Amino acid sequence: MARGCEPVALTCPVFFVGFMGAGKTSVARRLARVCGVASVDMDTYIERREGKKVKEIFAEAGEEGFRAVETAVLRELGAAADPMLVSCGGGVVVTPANHEVFRDAGFVVYLEVTADEAAGRISDTSTRPLFQNLEAARARCAERLPLYEAVADATVNTAGKSVPAIAREVQRILEKEGILCPQPR
Ligand code: S3P
Repeated sequence: MARGCEPVALTCPVFFVGFMGAGKTSVARRLARVCGVASVDMDTYIERREGKKVKEIFAEAGEEGFRAVETAVLRELGAAADPMLVSCGGGVVVTPANHEVFRDAGFVVYLEVTADEAAGRISDTSTRPLFQNLEAARARCAERLPLYEAVADATVNTAGKSVPAIAREVQRILEKEGILCPQPR
């Protein structure tokens, strides 16, 4: 075992934030697989908990209703006994209470992406009520930029990079921060 680390590797929850299409879910999953730690996708968790798809929650309860569930889930995951890699929905930063969870509970990795690049990565925008046209997505992305920057403990630019390459970059950061114990390569 390297540097006295415990075999179960995460010392605190790691939250992935960034605009829709940044690769938060894919990168968290990849890193979880490579490093042998647990990961959870907040939207999937919300859908299981509520028994509804995200777009149904938006249709029935509006964005406000969705944000309330999102905050409850973020608090739950932040307080989980076994820390996980948590891929958050792109709008998690718009709720001020969530910033407190980030500050108090864990480490935040911001995956940077432009709306134009994200549009090329999202195969099915019908599942994303807030990514319906590129103009609006550009404006939303610009509006959120300072919020992502405000919560980020580390920032990784994803432009032109593959999921494994981004995951490796995040792995190095988490190892350097002492959050993830180095794994044999
Ligand atoms: C949202 C992003 C989505 C999902 C919901 C709202 C947003 O998650 O939480 O549609 O406001 O940016 P992804 O970032 O995983 O697409």
